This record gives sequence, C-alpha cells and structure tokens, in this order.
Amino acid sequence: MTAQTNRGGAADANVAFGPRIMELADRLARWSETAAGLTCTFLSPAHRSVAVQLCDWMREAGLITEIDAIGNVIGRYPADDPQARTLILASHYDTVRNAGKYDGRLGVLVALVVAEHLRKLHHKLPFNVDVVAFSEEEGVRFSASFLGSSAMAGRFKFDLLERRDAAGETLAQVMREADLDPKKIPQLARKPADLLGYLEVHIEQGPVLLEEGLPVGIVSAIAGAVRRAVTITGTAGHAGTVPMVRRHDAAAAAAEIVLFVERRCGEAPGLVGTVGQLMVSGGAINIIPGRCELTLDIRAANDVTRDAAVSDIAVEMERIAARRGVAIESRELQRTASVACSPRLQQVLADAVASAGVKPRHLPSGAGHDAMMFDGLTEIGMLFVRCGNGGVSHSPREIITAEDADVAGRVILATLLRLAET
Ligand code: HGY
Ligand code: MN
Ligand code: MN
Repeated sequence: MTAQTNRGGAADANVAFGPRIMELADRLARWSETAAGLTCTFLSPAHRSVAVQLCDWMREAGLITEIDAIGNVIGRYPADDPQARTLILASHYDTVRNAGKYDGRLGVLVALVVAEHLRKLHHKLPFNVDVVAFSEEEGVRFSASFLGSSAMAGRFKFDLLERRDAAGETLAQVMREADLDPKKIPQLARKPADLLGYLEVHIEQGPVLLEEGLPVGIVSAIAGAVRRAVTITGTAGHAGTVPMVRRHDAAAAAAEIVLFVERRCGEAPGLVGTVGQLMVSGGAINIIPGRCELTLDIRAANDVTRDAAVSDIAVEMERIAARRGVAIESRELQRTASVACSPRLQQVLADAVASAGVKPRHLPSGAGHDAMMFDGLTEIGMLFVRCGNGGVSHSPREIITAEDADVAGRVILATLLRLAET
C-alpha cells in the first residue's frame, strides 16, 4: 500500500472530537419510542428518523451516502484509486429498551467525525473508508441480532424474514412498510477481496477500564451467545381450591429454571447466564399459572464452556418437567460463535493507543458486537471506551466522558493513518 507522503495536519488533529460526539449522541437520543427514556428498535418511526439524521450528517461531512435495503446507513470517504479496497468503520444505531445513549452510537459517531476530519483536510487514504451505522444489532424487535451487519457480511438468515414481532408482523412485512425490499438483501453482501478490514469503537459495557483508570482498551476476543426461548405448560387452576400437592404450576417450574441457570453459570470463570424475559401468559392474582415463557442468554469466552452449560440446563429442564408434571419446550433463537480479534489490527490499535499517551490494555468482550459477523471475511478489530457509573450499560445510567470520546477519535484517526502506511 503506497504510503502517504506525510500524516500532515490530519495527525495533529487540533479539532475537539469529544464534545461534538457527545452533542450528536444527545441529539440522536431525542428520538425514542417512549415518552421517557430511550428505546429505538428496528424500523420504528424513531429508528427511521435516526437513520435519516445520520444520513444527513454523513452527507454534510462530505461522504457518499446511502441507506441500504436493511436500513444500514453508509457514508463512504473514497480513495482516489477506484480499485482501492475498503475499511469498514462501524457500529449500530438501534438500542435496547430504556437504553443508554452510547451503546452502538458512540462507534458510529467516532467513525463519522474522523471521516469528516479527513475529508475537511482533503487527506486521502489509499483505501476507502465506509462509515456504517448498522440498523439492527440488539435483536429486540424480532429476537434476531445482527440483521444489518449479517446482511452486509453475506450471512443473513433468510428464514428470519418470517419471524414475527410482538404485534404479529413479520420482518418482511415491517421492511416493506418501511419501503425496504427484502429481495435486495443478497446484493448487500460485501466481497472479502474488496475489504481491507473492519474496525469498531464501542463502549466497554463493563468496569475494567474504569477500575484501571484507562480511557480506552483493545478488544482481544468477543464472546458468542446462545439464546433460547422456553415455554412451560402446566395446569391453570383456582388459586383457592387446588391443594399444593396437586398443582402443575408453570411459574414455579420457571423459578426453578431461573435458579438453576444462575447456579450453573456461576461454575466457570467467564461463563454467564441470563433469564432476561419471564412472562406468565394470561396471569391473574387468583389463577395458578398454566403457562410461562422465558428467555435464556448463555455466553462464555469459549464455545465449549458455553455449550456444556447449555446442555446441562436442557437436562435439568427435563428433570423439572418430569418432577412437576409440566411440559417444557425450548427452541434456539440464535447461536453466535465466539471470535478472536485480528492480532495485526490489535497491534495497530495498540500502537495508536500508545501514541495517544495511553497504556495499551487488551481485554475480552462479554458483549456481542457487529464485528463478529465479519470474522472470517476480513480482519476485525475493536476499541473499547471506558464507561462510568461502575461500567453499567443497557441502562439510562450508561455514561462516558467527552475526554474519553476524544481519545477514541484520536486513536482511530492514528490507526487509519498507520494502516495507510502499511
Ligand atoms: O447483548 C449484547 O451482547 C449486545 O449488547 N447486543
Ligand atoms: Mn447492546
Ligand atoms: Mn452494542
């Protein structure tokens, strides 16, 4: 790759990335499906307004913009060479329910302001930079994560088009109502040969950087999750007349499952298990629960540890079903393999972190990220940014500082300039 003559003004960014990133994050957070708090799920009106706003900002930054068939917002800062490969600089703009402002969006905004900075200086790189805001990473509306990034990676699972949301609408219907054509999804797949690499900035969503006093860290690996939907069918009955020994209480069976998941997933370092949703269908104060639904999210730094826990939980659910005389049905919603980040990109990021005067710290991610979808297609790298409030995330208490956002911007700028010289 031809080296740039010099890093020139681009490297001596005297622009303050941080305050601008924070201001843009605040503005994006104004669009929400709820009057209080931030909820912005796939293709809701709030989600579509955010997409339009991001597209406008990318265009104003001088990028070549589009919103693709799955709602990803893309802004290209092109190289001069029409044959140049492309570096994807991305994260997601959808949120969980009652979310923080920075999960996903920080990565999109860091990419935007860095590309904008290079464009303003007319500092061309020997590769295209695609700033990408993925439309659906959290998997809230359809219990299917990574819809945007899997489409771009050519790994979209087309059977998901028939999956229904809580209102009973299929993914395909919801897309068509948003003037998006599911038939165009296959065209979104990037060719590996066209890609130089994939980089993502993301909040750590944990306490490590905070406890070690570091603004940023380099991600070494990303844990893969197994997610399942469990339905327990017992026997509804009168809360006052059915003796305890005669009951087949679906909620009591669910409670046993929740406690077993907690106990089993406490048995190995790095293994975690969560029952994030627990519903008594048609429940009432004076009815013995006849039906319960819950979700499982099991993760570990390696898939063997994770899968052993998943199978132990399955065996225990069979025992609970037999003992309580209930039926338990469990179906897999998603399985994502744990991935390692590219050693080369980790080193380039570490050198850039050091050049920013920060001690390079490599750490694994317990959270899943869009980067996983590009593993095997191209080299993937991630930069974590410190979270305040004990590292909390997936909560309105999620917080970062403008100073740390600024460090992230400078590190990504330095990383791009270093990649341009390799
Ligand atoms: O659930 C996760 O790991 C991510 O926040 N989507
Ligand atoms: Mn998240
Ligand atoms: Mn995220």
